Parts: sequence; structure tokens; C-alpha cells
Amino acid sequence: PAGLVIAVDGPAASGKGTLARRLSAHYGLPYLDTGLLYRMVARAMLDAGHDIRDPDAAASLVSIFEESAFAEDTLRGREIGEAASVVAAMPAVRSGLIARQRQFAAQAGGAVLDGRDIGTVICPQAQAKLFVTATPEVRAARRHKELAGRGETATFEGILADIRRRDARDSGRSDAPLKAADDAVILDTSALTVEEAAAAAIAIVERRR
Ligand code: C5P
Repeated sequence: PAGLVIAVDGPAASGKGTLARRLSAHYGLPYLDTGLLYRMVARAMLDAGHDIRDPDAAASLVSIFEESAFAEDTLRGREIGEAASVVAAMPAVRSGLIARQRQFAAQAGGAVLDGRDIGTVICPQAQAKLFVTATPEVRAARRHKELAGRGETATFEGILADIRRRDARDSGRSDAPLKAADDAVILDTSALTVEEAAAAAIAIVERRR
């Protein structure tokens, strides 16, 4: 049978990355964090001195940037997350990144991908689809802790505002908006520990494969 493809979607700081990593380890599948691709485009735009809202500059960059040129650490900051959601709303950026993601998903043994549109657009045929959510307050608290660990000083209120703005932009765009696929299982991690959420995620995949 074809390899197991697991699609993990959800809003910023919902816990989807942590769960996708746990699923990847549990099933021995390669993992792609697709948010990093949008973050790389944003980083390349800023490094080149382009206005982040310039769709022509973004379209020309997306076809030439190489993953190997970026250290992951330079992509995780608050400013880049915000800039990534701006370029991610541009159809030319999204279409320019589709082939890389589908190639990754097509590996013989299967794969785990996380993002916003994996179950809806990138891998509509995935056997298992999770849509991971949590309240904006819980997500802001998690992101606050993560950013503090990186040495970024930001208030909880500022991060909550970031999250609400990013949710609105990701859900409101016309091209591949953030939304659960019809056949996705929704997993609300607000009140769950990582261990509980990981067990729930594995149980969902077990029912689907
Ligand atoms: O998941 P992460 O926060 O790293 O994603 C950064 C931004 O990239 C998101 O806010 C979203 O706008 C965009 N993104 C997307 N589609 C994906 C993954 C990320 O639009 N599959």
C-alpha cells in the first residue's frame, strides 16, 4: 500500500508543530514544517530590502530561493512570523511552493506535513488529517514562553494581538485560507498536556489508517 500521509493543520501556536514531530517519531515518517517555507520567503524578502507587501518581488524570489541558505534559528522570530503571513496570502507565493510540498508528501514511505492548507490543498488525499486548535489565550501563553526562551521580550497582550491578527489574515485570505478539511478530525489542545495531546493525535491516526 502507499505510504501513510498525515496532514496536520491549525493556527499559530496551536501545538501542531509539536504534535507533527511526535507523529513523525512515532511512525518513523519524515516531517516537513511548511510554515518554514513561507518564513524563508519572508526572510529572503527582508534580506533583499524589498517591501514585504510587494507581490512581484515575492513572486520572483519564491522560484529561486534555496532552503539550504537559511538557518532555522533566523526564521522563528516574531517579525518573520508576521511577514510570512503577509507573503502567504499572495497566490504566486503559494503556487510557487506547491511542488516542493507535494514532492515531500509523495515519498514512498509516507510523510507528516504541518501547515494551514495541507489537508485542503496540498494533500487532499492524505489518509489522516488533524486540525489542531486551542484558545487564542492559551496559544499566546505558549508563544510568549517560546519567544522568552529565544530572548525576545514581548508582552502577553502584544503576542495575543499578533495571534488574532495572524488568524484573521490566514483565515480571511481567498487563496487556501486556514480551515479544517471536511474529513479532518479537530483536536483542541487547550486543556491537554503535550503527552495527552500526542496520545490523542496517535489515536486519531490509528482510526484512519
Ligand atoms: O506555522 P507558522 O507560524 O510557521 O507559519 C507562518 C505563516 O505561514 C502562517 O501565519 C501562514 O500565513 C503561513 N502558512 C501558510 N500555509 C502553510 C503554512 C504556513 O499560509 N501551509
